[in-house]
Amino acid sequence: MVAKSKRQLAKLALLALALLLLLAATLLCVFLIPRHHRKPLPPGPPPGNASNPDDSVVAFDFSPYLIMYKSGRVHRLDGTARCAAGVDEATGVASKDVVIDGGTGLAARMYLPPAPGGAKGKKDPGRLPVLVFYHGGAFVIESAFTPLYHAYLNAVAAKARVVAVSVEYRLAPEHRLPTAYDDSWQALNWVARNAGSGPEPWLRDRGNLSRLFVAGDSAGANIAHNMAMRAGTEGGLDGGAAITGLLLLDPYFWGKKPVAGETTDQATRRQYEATWSFICGGRYGIDDPLVNPLSAELRRLACSRVAVTSSGLDDFRPRGMAYAAALRDSGWDGVVEQYETPGERHVYFLDRPKDPNSVKELAFVTGFLSGE
Ligand SMILES: *[C@@H]1O[C@H](CO)[C@@H](O)[C@H](O)[C@H]1NC(C)=O
Ligand SMILES: *[C@@H]1O[C@H](CO)[C@@H](O)[C@H](O)[C@H]1NC(C)=O
Repeated sequence: MVAKSKRQLAKLALLALALLLLLAATLLCVFLIPRHHRKPLPPGPPPGNASNPDDSVVAFDFSPYLIMYKSGRVHRLDGTARCAAGVDEATGVASKDVVIDGGTGLAARMYLPPAPGGAKGKKDPGRLPVLVFYHGGAFVIESAFTPLYHAYLNAVAAKARVVAVSVEYRLAPEHRLPTAYDDSWQALNWVARNAGSGPEPWLRDRGNLSRLFVAGDSAGANIAHNMAMRAGTEGGLDGGAAITGLLLLDPYFWGKKPVAGETTDQATRRQYEATWSFICGGRYGIDDPLVNPLSAELRRLACSRVAVTSSGLDDFRPRGMAYAAALRDSGWDGVVEQYETPGERHVYFLDRPKDPNSVKELAFVTGFLSGE
């Protein structure tokens, strides 16, 4: 009897040890392996609907972003985490969420850096440049509320000392383009109105509308560019506000004909065309000015300064450079700056903010936002 229960006890102990090791291994995977090196979850059910066969038939594979099934089910593979607004301990930047349109759910996360000298500083803390930011994620994933963008906007607001508004526009494929553009335009005009006359207190009391910046990364940079184009073709923003600077971080642009240095691999090009078509539901061709700025009337861009960043290993780098060159040649009356990081991948600075290259990139962003 005793011997048997001892054996059982030993068995139990072994089992517990095995479970512990498994748990430790899982935790290691989740916390130590960077996002990009994690394998996306395998497609298909669960959590699909087992009694609907179409729920496990892939209709469009947009890995590593999402997979859409024939039933219409959308499985996002990344950018689904959310974090709360609050006060960032490291920088003292305060953030809060605002609803811009209750009907559509259009919202934003706002950021305000601490007053110089702390809360007991001088009575009038002065006005700060206003930054409207559009997050990236191929128009299909990520959010103004993900830890990735929350951390980035905290860092930018702290370092550049701007009132930032990170826009929560609606995503494809549930809302195909032009929804993201329309939401973004509505949000930009909301900011312009509120920084002019309120009632939103951070914009009304602390924002300097004479220094309005519009920025984004990847798909968000595509949006930012299209907002400045729209301001140029639709007669400006609400209340007569004007965009001072446009900041495009590794912008997502494409087109039928490769520009110098762009991939000529047919499979890759077909894939970029297919994903654009997925994002806009076939509404706009791959040479539409919305995605190919080389076919846009760039001289109508409504801002006086533009900065374009590019990363050496990024498929989008050549067209970003071509954009800057085309803008210079377009007769547009402004100044364009370029910032390049060799040897880095698309939007590397978001994932690895502490890397020396990311720190340098942030210094460039800060410098641009500090200019007139
Ligand atoms: C699952 O699919 C079946 C068949 O298409 C449908 O009748 C049912 O409502 C679905 N269940 C859920 C929870 O969507
Ligand atoms: C707002 O920005 C403009 C342009 O840089 C500057 O001249 C003005 O002094 C600023 N206003 C305030 C209140 O800081």
